[in-house]
Amino acid sequence: MKHEIVEKNVGLMALLMVFAVSIGGLTQIVPLFFQDVVNEPVVGMQPYTALQLEGRDVYIKEGCVGCHSQMIRPFRAETERYGHYSVAGESVWDHPFLWGSKRTGPDLARVGGRYSDEWHRAHLYNPRNVVPESKMPAYPWLVENTLDGKETAAKIEAMRFLGVPYSDEDIAGAADAVKGKTEMDALVAYLQVLGTALKNKR
Ligand code: HEC
Repeated sequence: MKHEIVEKNVGLMALLMVFAVSIGGLTQIVPLFFQDVVNEPVVGMQPYTALQLEGRDVYIKEGCVGCHSQMIRPFRAETERYGHYSVAGESVWDHPFLWGSKRTGPDLARVGGRYSDEWHRAHLYNPRNVVPESKMPAYPWLVENTLDGKETAAKIEAMRFLGVPYSDEDIAGAADAVKGKTEMDALVAYLQVLGTALKNKR
């Protein structure tokens, strides 16, 4: 029997299994590359401003993603707490995406507009100022570190290369848009826009 050949030959069996599993995987993954629902931005979404983009880099640099996810799953317990579940179209311009996988703190996918700028400043300066039982680290240096804007244009250009629709004016005005602002200004600007593309539609 031909089947016996496969059953008695581990190498051949492993090879055929890999083949079978790849076909299964590819039929699920490849169509996603061509579906608008995962490739097209949410209607009305704007690329990050220069300041928000710098804030995103502060978020990455300070390791916020290590404690905070930005991915609301479509479960009732999550949507009641955080708002509408995250959709793919909200992440198409995020390079790299910051969905995260650890929630020591709450999900931040829709934190934009939930608190005032002043609340965020007080909280980031020392979380215990506004949430007495908080375990989140304090980031007091954010108010001292000023952005020089030297790299901002290059960052925006890199994003444009990756498909984010920035204009020439965005690149030309990038340095001026962030000059003199602090890392705190940038990070708060970034936090305040998170998840708002979908929120504003309702
Ligand atoms: C060691 C883990 C940890 C790190 C790192 C961390 N956080 Fe937090 N964060 C928490 C915890 C715990 C809370 C909940 C208590 C509180 O509100 O302070 C929280 C709360 C928050 C909230 C309020 C969310 C809400 O919906 O109430 C924001 C905004 C936030 N963090 C932003 C940040 C940013 C920005 C950074 C990086 C500069 C950061 N966090 C780094 C643990 C962390």
